Amino acid sequence: MPTAAVRRAMRAQERRRFLPPEVAGEHHRDVPLPIGFGQTNSQPSTVAEMLTLLEPFPGMRVLDVGSGSGWTSAILGELGGPDSTVVAVELVPDLVDRSRAAITQPWVRVHHARPGVLGLPEHGPYDRILVSAMGDELPSQLVDQLTADGVMVAPWRGVMHRVRRTDGTVEVTEHGGYRFVPLRHTRM
Ligand SMILES: C[S@@+](CC[C@H](N)C(=O)[O-])C[C@H]1O[C@@H](n2cnc3c(N)ncnc32)[C@H](O)[C@@H]1O
Repeated sequence: MPTAAVRRAMRAQERRRFLPPEVAGEHHRDVPLPIGFGQTNSQPSTVAEMLTLLEPFPGMRVLDVGSGSGWTSAILGELGGPDSTVVAVELVPDLVDRSRAAITQPWVRVHHARPGVLGLPEHGPYDRILVSAMGDELPSQLVDQLTADGVMVAPWRGVMHRVRRTDGTVEVTEHGGYRFVPLRHTRM
């Protein structure tokens, strides 16, 4: 069940504003919606589950991998508040431009993904990492970008995972089956 804070943050950042005009009228549907370039704005119920698993908190430093339309980045900014830092990273340049235009919080910044690099290590470490594209294994490059007790929520091999770093160990739990666009490997 999504927490009240997650539900409130999702309402505060209206999905419609992050959608291209041709699908904006469908904002209320609990389905992924196309945002161009073969990519999607995630299904609201999935976003709610992922954000609840992430255990966001005010003032957090958070990385949003595959920020797409910018909707999840803006919701993370809402959950973290003005004392937080949201570092969003996206592979498709046009989506970077479009999401920058839609996001109004100055503490949320969208970056271009760099060739050969997953995430944005130079801006880390992060208390929280959200990944909205499907990988084929635990993204160890991102685990390295977590703080000592950081949490990452990421899908791989069709299953949602929650990864918690504690005292040099990594605890991974599974949270049901999901479908996502693929997490692409950026080449050098
Ligand atoms: C499901 S979509 C967008 C999800 C986004 N949270 C939203 O609701 O709009 C996932 C995004 O991940 C991006 N992506 C895929 N692989 C990536 C990578 N290695 N680094 C950064 N972004 C990536 C895709 O271009 C796509 O925009």
